[in-house]
Amino acid sequence: MLLLTYFLSFLIIYKGTDASGCNQRLYDQESFVCVCDENTCDDFPPVEYPLKGTYKVITSSSDEFRFEEASGNFTDVSDGYARIFVNTSDPLQVMLGFGGAFTDATGINVAKLSSVLQGVFARQYFSENGLEYNLGRVPIGGCDFSTHPYSYDDYEGDVELANFSLTVEDYTYKIPLMKAAQQLSVDDYHFIATPWSPPSWMKTNGMFNGTGKLIPEMQQPWANYFVKFFDAYQEEGVTFYGFTVQNEPYAGSTDWDWNCCHFTAEDEKVFVRDYLGPTLQAAGYDDLKLLIGDGNLEIYPQFIENNINHWSTGWIDWNMALDLNGGPNWAFNYVDSPVIVNETSNEFYKQPMFYVLGHFSKFIPEGSAHIGSNINLLEPSSRNNLLELIGNPVGGIDSSSFIRPDGYVISVVLNTNTDAKTILLEDDLLATEFYTILPPKSIQTFIYTTNEVQL
Ligand SMILES: *[C@@H]1O[C@H](CO)[C@@H](O)[C@H](O)[C@H]1NC(C)=O
Ligand SMILES: *[C@@H]1O[C@H](CO)[C@@H](O)[C@H](O)[C@H]1NC(C)=O
Ligand SMILES: *[C@@H]1O[C@H](CO)[C@@H](O)[C@H](O)[C@H]1NC(C)=O
Ligand SMILES: *[C@@H]1O[C@H](CO)[C@@H](O)[C@H](O)[C@H]1NC(C)=O
Ligand SMILES: *[C@@H]1O[C@H](CO)[C@@H](O)[C@H](O)[C@H]1NC(C)=O
Repeated sequence: MLLLTYFLSFLIIYKGTDASGCNQRLYDQESFVCVCDENTCDDFPPVEYPLKGTYKVITSSSDEFRFEEASGNFTDVSDGYARIFVNTSDPLQVMLGFGGAFTDATGINVAKLSSVLQGVFARQYFSENGLEYNLGRVPIGGCDFSTHPYSYDDYEGDVELANFSLTVEDYTYKIPLMKAAQQLSVDDYHFIATPWSPPSWMKTNGMFNGTGKLIPEMQQPWANYFVKFFDAYQEEGVTFYGFTVQNEPYAGSTDWDWNCCHFTAEDEKVFVRDYLGPTLQAAGYDDLKLLIGDGNLEIYPQFIENNINHWSTGWIDWNMALDLNGGPNWAFNYVDSPVIVNETSNEFYKQPMFYVLGHFSKFIPEGSAHIGSNINLLEPSSRNNLLELIGNPVGGIDSSSFIRPDGYVISVVLNTNTDAKTILLEDDLLATEFYTILPPKSIQTFIYTTNEVQL
């Protein structure tokens, strides 16, 4: 991963616009970024879906392509490095979608851009000419990606929450971007709320961070706080699809640098069953979905596929935009992001991860079913059984397949090898297969249908 702390010291050694419209810039790294300014920004218009017997393939690679589109015919082929078998008769979990996090840092960085470029940014992520995100994670109050630790009620002992109020971060940064997402998105945009920490005075250690839990007597005030949050957002015209009880609930069991609150599985069960559940229901929020499996994990394509292949129904990436240092972050926990904003030049940079996310998000709408697939190496000598046993991709190839509600099959295939690989793709319902060449370190999305012409 790019270490952004050192980003500024890198020399720009290559500049130029490629065929896909990407205004390439290379920063002495393995791969390049695509630069967006008020005048140019490569977009990703809707793909025309193919008829039966042909396929579309979208390719991005480490050193050459960004959303490069091509088509091909299904033919009888046999020779290749690996064969992917897609079983459309084996539907697994139904997907919810893909998205990013509406953190304070995301909003703060977007707000540094000119208003023209803010519009470009929003279209890049949300519109049909962009990644078509449909999910958003929204911190309830602050998290480490805020300029300071805070809650919506920092009045010690205010158990009635008389002084509860949203902050400038909500009004200036989060809500405007959330509304842009709702307006630009073709499908329903689902927001999922997550708290990092209750007000410090509701916790055993009186701090947002460190080692601390919710004081048992504060369970009801903390449940009421959720209701106040949903009410306040509703007043601003933003409704939520669901929530999680606590970000990274194990954090805070030992000293933690930023906003946290330790919940054991038992704590969480009791809090939800006896306090949060009944309180939300009484307030009319019984349609909100409680999501599980909350955690911030480093992103890389293999990881997304690994998660989906282990029954996760979606992927919400972390900050959608960070600055040149990978912040702001009050706890100095700087990380990377698919988009980096350069305030000085009024530019933003789309990193390779932006494109990787698009290979999933643009093609796998809510309601798509993940379907069974497997990979077989046709060159057995290249097998590395040990690596595969510990969950590495088969021969450096990984894939996940889906059927969309409109019947199209989507197969996302990753080549982590440093050389190009010829891959055969076979489908249980199609008599023929096709092959494709995956460039070194690349990701491809295949689109095809097993149905007759759909016009
Ligand atoms: C697919 O086959 C059709 C008809 O044989 C041909 O016209 C077309 O060029 C082929 N497309 C590709 C991408 O090979
Ligand atoms: C495809 O999946 C179905 C349902 O799980 C299964 O019965 C069938 O054997 C699979 N086909 C192949 C070729 O693996
Ligand atoms: C609410 O805020 C006001 C004004 O800052 C303060 O005077 C008051 O004590 C607070 N109320 C509670 C219950 O903390
Ligand atoms: C918790 O946050 C405070 C600032 O509010 C900071 O001084 C302290 O070092 C942090 N604690 C840990 C364990 O990082
Ligand atoms: C950010 O923009 C400034 C002003 O154009 C430029 O000097 C600097 O190199 C840019 N930073 C990066 C990382 O591109």
